[in-house]
Amino acid sequence: MLQPVQADHGKINASGWGILRGLVRQTGLHDNKSLPQNYTPALSIHQMPDITIFSNRLKKNFRHWTKWAKRRNIRCYRLYDRDVPEFPIALDLYEQRAHLQEFETGWQIGEEEHARWVEGMRHAASEILELPLAAIVFKQRLRQRGLAQYEKTGCKGENFIVHEGGHLFIVNLEEYLDTGLFLDHRNTRRMVQEKAAGKRFLNLFAYTGSFTVYAAAGGATRSTTVDLSNTYQDWARRNFELNGMDLARHELVRADVFGFLGDATGRCERYDLIVMDPPSFSNSKKMSGVLDVQRDHALLINQCLKLLSDGGELFFSTNLRSFNLDEAALATHSIKEISGQTVPEDFRNRKIHRCWLITR
Ligand SMILES: C[S@@+](CC[C@H](N)C(=O)[O-])C[C@H]1O[C@@H](n2cnc3c(N)ncnc32)[C@H](O)[C@@H]1O
Repeated sequence: MLQPVQADHGKINASGWGILRGLVRQTGLHDNKSLPQNYTPALSIHQMPDITIFSNRLKKNFRHWTKWAKRRNIRCYRLYDRDVPEFPIALDLYEQRAHLQEFETGWQIGEEEHARWVEGMRHAASEILELPLAAIVFKQRLRQRGLAQYEKTGCKGENFIVHEGGHLFIVNLEEYLDTGLFLDHRNTRRMVQEKAAGKRFLNLFAYTGSFTVYAAAGGATRSTTVDLSNTYQDWARRNFELNGMDLARHELVRADVFGFLGDATGRCERYDLIVMDPPSFSNSKKMSGVLDVQRDHALLINQCLKLLSDGGELFFSTNLRSFNLDEAALATHSIKEISGQTVPEDFRNRKIHRCWLITR
């Protein structure tokens, strides 16, 4: 049965999105106004909005995807993917916790009504998934550009370890907008592991280094993991240690990928397997210019091609929905879109990312 809410304080940070545990921010778009400290939505079961459509769908999905995941020994997966338009959210299970994200739709809704709506969904998720309410973390994902996406939420959250593909990953559902492990690349990571034996591996825009963990497990002889962020390099190092990787063979490089690619080409470095999964847009102060994946992808891919050994392969991926691969500008004709294999079955949004396998 649904329980009345135990409210604590919603936190809203400068990047314009809120993180909520038992409380809510208003949905006035890009409105950073904090909620009053003593604001408590007086919710009772009777005041809950009608979320029956959502609960019914989640129940059905839970039955289906839990069986599906069990058969495959998958413990982190997507349970609800904007299935019903009135509930534009995604719900991801990370073992004993759940990540509930609301996507921006442009709808206007009052603060209290939104609070009730969110709490209704959290309670439903808690009941159906049989998890404590505190384990259902809610975030609003507003459209934003640049590194804001990787910034802190202002809420420390808790690091915990999840299992995927026989490996261990540190996840935090609250501290950042993203969690440390992108579930939509679960299949791609497995494919990388399958190809990695005896290879020199390069991971660009590596985030928390999960592709490298798989490559190392697959027998990569050495690897280089490049990211601009100290925070994510440190997170990647902890993931490497957690998986018993040899840090002498698996180096971490904090660098702007543009600079790194130029330097590596100058040193005549060679890699047999490269993963490049850039953000759609980045304007970090740590890099000289601005990264725009639509504008820059051909340059980046062509630089990777220079670093590939004979027979070497590049996985290139992007989440930019409007993306167009400029094949004519690439210095190869060996380009195969593999999104059909890389987007996992539990993502009903088949356009969550696109991925290509490119060779010289
Ligand atoms: C979309 S995430 C990459 C996800 C990762 N491939 C994965 O699947 O786990 C983007 C990452 O790019 C990094 N980044 C952004 N601009 C960069 C740049 N110019 N050079 C290096 N890293 C950059 C960010 O710090 C962030 O970790």
